[in-house]
Order: sequence, then C-alpha cells, then structure tokens
Amino acid sequence: MPSPILVAYVTRSGSTAEVAEAVGNALREAGLPVKVARVQDPLLVGDYRAVILGSPLYMGRLPGAMHHFLARNRHVLSSMRPWFFVLGPWTAAPKDFEVPREQAKQQLAKHSWLQPAEVHIFAGRLDMKRLRFPLSLVRFMPPLRELSKTPLDARDWEAIRAWAAGIARQLRSAA
Ligand SMILES: Cc1cc2nc3c(=O)[nH]c(=O)nc-3n(C[C@H](O)[C@H](O)[C@H](O)COP(=O)(O)O)c2cc1C
Repeated sequence: MPSPILVAYVTRSGSTAEVAEAVGNALREAGLPVKVARVQDPLLVGDYRAVILGSPLYMGRLPGAMHHFLARNRHVLSSMRPWFFVLGPWTAAPKDFEVPREQAKQQLAKHSWLQPAEVHIFAGRLDMKRLRFPLSLVRFMPPLRELSKTPLDARDWEAIRAWAAGIARQLRSAA
C-alpha cells in the first residue's frame, strides 16, 4: 500500500471543508489513498507522501490555525512541495481572483521557507447563517448587508475535481 496523501484544511463556515472532501474524493477515484483532516487535528505530516492544504481568506488573511499548522510543521513541510488551495471570491469572474491571489501570496510569504507546488484560488461561498459570532456581525456592515441576505455559492465543482485530478496524475507519474 503506497503512503497516503494528506488533504488538510481550515474552515470557518464549512465551504473549504467541502472542497477538501471533493479534492480527497477525486484523488481516491484516481486510486490514491487519502486522508482528509482539519489542520487542528493531531497529524503526523511526515507520514504522508504529499500534502494538499486548503484555507479560506478572511479580511485578507488566512485563519490563524493555518499559520500555526505551517509553523508547527515547518521542519517536515520545508522538504516537501505542498499544493495550496485558497477560497475567496464570491463570483467566478477572473478579475475577482486577482485580489485573493495577491492576499494569499502575501500571507504565505510570512513562511519564507515554504515552497508550494502551486497556490490555486477557487471561488468560495458566503453563507452568513454558518458564520459564528463575532464574525457573524459582518452581516451588519454596509457592503455585506445586501449581499448576505441569500447565500452565494460560487464554488466550481468541475474546476475543483479537475485540479485534484491533475495533482493525482502528477503523483501517479512520480510514483
Ligand atoms: C467576513 C468575511 C471576510 C472575507 N474576507 C475575504 C477576503 O479578504 N478575501 C477573499 O478572497 N475572500 C474573503 N471572504 C470570502 C471567504 O473566503 C469565502 O466566503 C470562503 O468560502 C469561506 O470559507 P469557509 O466556509 O471555509 O470558512 C470573506 C468572507 C467573509 C464572511
């Protein structure tokens, strides 16, 4: 049995968790053993052959749990080329990906030792009902007041599966 692939994610309102599961399922369909887990779970990153990390952006930042995971696993991750997916925009328009791409780049630059194989931006989901206090208060902020009345889900499941299938091909050819 080849050593498994780790898909580790952080989420605040659940949408990144669902993307992580979809990435995991696409890898399994390609015949690869996978573990999907939260970055807060007890994980021995060195037990995995490859690592895919997923995180949303909030106010231009990755949640603290992702920064802690990276710092905690610096030793192992610095000898790997992890893939990164980042959720952010609420539309699929390419121009709306530019700011999140820059935000993700700046956040990951805090870990100068990290050499990701790729940092991929996916559209995300806005669902105020799933945001917990105090973040839930943002629904009273003028720019979000209108937007937040009905959930917006811009996640492109086909693009997510295609991205994961591309990683599976790279891993299989490297085996
Ligand atoms: C209060 C708030 C702030 C956000 N800030 C950003 C941001 O700075 N950049 C971005 O690209 N997306 C931002 N988003 C969008 C989230 O990244 C997106 O909704 C994502 O799907 C949430 O992931 P989660 O459900 O896993 O927590 C923000 C969302 C909320 C609710």
